[in-house]
Amino acid sequence: MQKNVLLLNGPNLNLLGSRQPDIYGVESLDDIVDACRKLASELDLGLRAEQSNHEGTLVDLIQEARASADAIIINAGAYSHTSVAILDALNSFDGDVIEVHLSNIHKREAFRHHSFISSRASGIIVGCGSHGYLLALRQLAHVLNGTTR
Ligand code: DQA
Repeated sequence: MQKNVLLLNGPNLNLLGSRQPDIYGVESLDDIVDACRKLASELDLGLRAEQSNHEGTLVDLIQEARASADAIIINAGAYSHTSVAILDALNSFDGDVIEVHLSNIHKREAFRHHSFISSRASGIIVGCGSHGYLLALRQLAHVLNGTTR
């Protein structure tokens, strides 16, 4: 049975490509999701991609994933630094969680150095730009399918 991954992006990540490209890169979220879909299919992983600017919607999507996904890749954007509700939702999910940030949050303002999600994540990828999402998928293929590529 094919394993399913939920790729979840939080607030302002819908603006990727036009938002502070010096920090977040020139690729749009659609470009990134397309690349993730291509790699997921090569790795034999199902992929559902969602983005929301709303904390409660992100919580709802994580709750839905309890029944429909084997793992979550999450870039919760600014909510990473503020949201106990997203942490609680992730703690209700049984599968692997990989946290991704395009920028290296540890090189930036002090308020970005702490992420509530990190205590739940099995792996954390920061500062690798959009490639971080692909690395996260490869890690999940390794964990879920035993893929070593
Ligand atoms: C981000 C880093 C966060 O601090 C910021 O609020 C974002 C994007 C990143 O991907 O680098 O929205 O999660």
